[in-house]
Amino acid sequence: MEILRVENLSKSFGGVHAVNDVSFSVEVGERLAVIGPNGAGKTTLFNLINGQLRPTAGRIYFCGQDITKMLTHQRAHAGQGRSFQLTSLFLDLTVFENALLALNGTKPSRYQVLRPITGYEDLMAKAEETLKAAALWEQKDELVKNISYGEQRRLEIALTTVLSDLRLLLLDEPSCGLTGAESADIIEMIRKLGRDITVLLVAHDMDLVFGVAERIMVLHYGEIIADGEPEEIQASPMVKEIYMGSEEDTGSARAS
Ligand SMILES: Nc1ncnc2c1ncn2[C@@H]1O[C@H](COP(=O)(O)OP(=O)(O)OP(=O)(O)O)[C@@H](O)[C@H]1O
Ligand SMILES: [Mg+2]
Repeated sequence: MEILRVENLSKSFGGVHAVNDVSFSVEVGERLAVIGPNGAGKTTLFNLINGQLRPTAGRIYFCGQDITKMLTHQRAHAGQGRSFQLTSLFLDLTVFENALLALNGTKPSRYQVLRPITGYEDLMAKAEETLKAAALWEQKDELVKNISYGEQRRLEIALTTVLSDLRLLLLDEPSCGLTGAESADIIEMIRKLGRDITVLLVAHDMDLVFGVAERIMVLHYGEIIADGEPEEIQASPMVKEIYMGSEEDTGSARAS
């Protein structure tokens, strides 16, 4: 079953075709990595999918619905989650308090001040489960500002995945700035996500890409130049050429 379909999607900034007539679809549960040189249009593509940018042309369908004109928060309601680098964390609260707040926000009764104690017990249990899955249970009483950067990234991703009805998770460079070991923890976490969650990942870190993706799409000057299984992509002479080509080849998107 298809969860996302992008049809002839384009985004130009002045004369720069950041995303140029891109079409693809993603099946429920897929782990798809989008790779490509700096300036290839990867982040722009994500911004179009989650509604932070309006396309110049083309359509986007999510769960069969045309979401091209939907606002970002409406797309979030429909089941899209995106991990923003740390911006969703409360640094002066503990890890556990952050989990409670994130989970509380997912409840339909979030504006209800008084609620049965079992509601809180559910919340506590869910917070514990979430933190354990992210290997952060031991740090639950630490202030977020005092845990390591790698742990903050893990917490941030874990709390994105607790959004109620999360169906599509967009991760743009989730291991950026992390050590190898911290990045390995992120890989482990993404691997543990349920198949009801579809994962779209942008990364330069090939350990992350090959550790998570079952399908890789290569973006170059805003166009998809390869789409296939990791082995195919790895063996593709064209992809090698792009990654090891001349300096001019890895510059920014083509201007018209
Ligand atoms: N808001 C903007 N205004 C003008 N140009 C932009 C804007 N955002 C992106 N661009 C341009 O669009 C092209 C694609 O940028 P984008 O950030 O999507 O690339 P990327 O593949 O994510 O690169 P990186 O790997 O460095 O993150 C680049 O040429 C960039 O300069
Ligand atoms: Mg980017």
